[in-house]
Amino acid sequence: MKKFLSASIMCADLLNMEKSIRDLERAGVDFLHVDIMDGSFVPNITLGFDLINALKKITDIPLDVHMMVNEPSKFIDLMKLTEKDILCVHYESELHIARTLEKIRNKGIRTGLAINPGTPAENYRYLTELIDMALVMTVNPGFAGQKIVPFAERKVRDTRALLDSLGGENILIEVDGNISPENGVKMSRAGADIFVLGTSALFLKDKDMKDAAEDLRKIL
Ligand code: DX5
Ligand code: ZN
Repeated sequence: MKKFLSASIMCADLLNMEKSIRDLERAGVDFLHVDIMDGSFVPNITLGFDLINALKKITDIPLDVHMMVNEPSKFIDLMKLTEKDILCVHYESELHIARTLEKIRNKGIRTGLAINPGTPAENYRYLTELIDMALVMTVNPGFAGQKIVPFAERKVRDTRALLDSLGGENILIEVDGNISPENGVKMSRAGADIFVLGTSALFLKDKDMKDAAEDLRKIL
């Protein structure tokens, strides 16, 4: 199965965003991972909807939007996303999550459902027909530069097995948080398909982004 690289742009040079996007285009990443936070669902605030719409105007790299906000359904219409993009909401963030997933689907956007480290993979059980991607958080969301949770590999394995047992073989599993080359290899073996690359693998002081992306493609 093909593996996908998703560059976490909250880790890019925020003062030179367009240059960072051109560098990521040259590096050939498959997605731009855009973290949206509200200071309530997670204790931080990062990027916003205006940035998403501005990105859509300047690049063809599909967006992989990760909404870490309460009641994400309120905000779906603010984003000009297309069928190439993925819009991912958290299981824990909405009372009627199935309705929210349907709303995203009905707009023709690919749907993602994220779960926090403490949320069981079992929660995917009745939702497989509504999702294209399962985002298994490998850190508690909110900040870059954290350490992976110790049960991440086991959880990815359990999620893959559950999805496959329910006919969800085509649902891609994404991992997000401390995906270093070493952790990426472990997650890949456990069944992950999309790798969110931040400070642990792509935005490095001593390595060019293109080289980092090429090296990751060889090992994942
Ligand atoms: C949160 C973010 C971070 C981060 C990933 O949702 O997506 O997890 O940018 O990069 P690391 O953990 O490598 O800094
Ligand atoms: Zn994220």
